[in-house]
Amino acid sequence: MVDSSDQAAGRLREAKRVTVLTGAGISAESGIATFRDAMTGLWSQFNPADLATPEAFRRDPELVSRWYDERRLQVAGCRPNDGHLALARMERIAGARGVKFTLITQNVDRLHQAAGSQSVIELHGTLWVWRCVDCGKEAEETGPAFSEYPPTCICGGSRRPGVVWFGEGLNWRDLSAAGVAAKACDLLISVGTSSVVYPAARLIEDAIAAGAKVLEVNPNPTPFSDEVDWSIRGKSGEVLPRLVEEAFGNGVDAHRIDSSAG
Ligand code: APR
Repeated sequence: MVDSSDQAAGRLREAKRVTVLTGAGISAESGIATFRDAMTGLWSQFNPADLATPEAFRRDPELVSRWYDERRLQVAGCRPNDGHLALARMERIAGARGVKFTLITQNVDRLHQAAGSQSVIELHGTLWVWRCVDCGKEAEETGPAFSEYPPTCICGGSRRPGVVWFGEGLNWRDLSAAGVAAKACDLLISVGTSSVVYPAARLIEDAIAAGAKVLEVNPNPTPFSDEVDWSIRGKSGEVLPRLVEEAFGNGVDAHRIDSSAG
């Protein structure tokens, strides 16, 4: 393992198919708690079995829907940080260079989209869409707090957040698109994920097995830190802007693009 952003930046500049996988860590600098960081992580304060499972919702739909709505309102007050912005810039540069770029996130906060990222695969759903458990009707929810918990659908059914709970299957279209992107890329960048939750973590395994170079950005080690090509210990809001600048220059994108495209 080599802690060298130069080599990683060189690989990013040369790559033809880039896939990025993000986790809660990329939103930490926007003021959103991660799940497993000691003390501050949500799961150190709350028991996921009481809040993030279909059984928990059946048992206490008021508690669960109120908790997720509070998270939705908290996220509403947050802004994308330099890490999100760097990935949106990376996508634009890739587009201009004819490079295939895929952004896969485990996050449900839509800060990537708020930063300008165009195509985002939301593996674990989103806080911004709520679904009726009876008729399945989905609706975007960007307004103030619900007036009742759980919120009620026009069919009379209870509505739940459009996130993927533990024990639930992921959307197979998203999962297969993510799998294809991980297996076909020549560079996978894993950012701000503890890499312990599956099937998302398998995408890192798939990329390594397919021979792609893998860069990990995380202040803490993960189970893959000894297997990846580069593991940079740092905050994504600091490391990613630097990486994009080392690879493509400081925003005068046109110059680097022309010279490297030959
Ligand atoms: N920049 C980059 N990484 C960071 C930062 C930061 N500023 N701050 C913390 N991290 C790292 C932590 O070291 C940790 O490895 O982010 C990771 C967050 O890990 P988790 O809290 O486990 O979040 P994540 O990997 O996204 O969890 C996966 O688990 O609870 C479920 O559905 C939920 O999508 C979530 C999934």
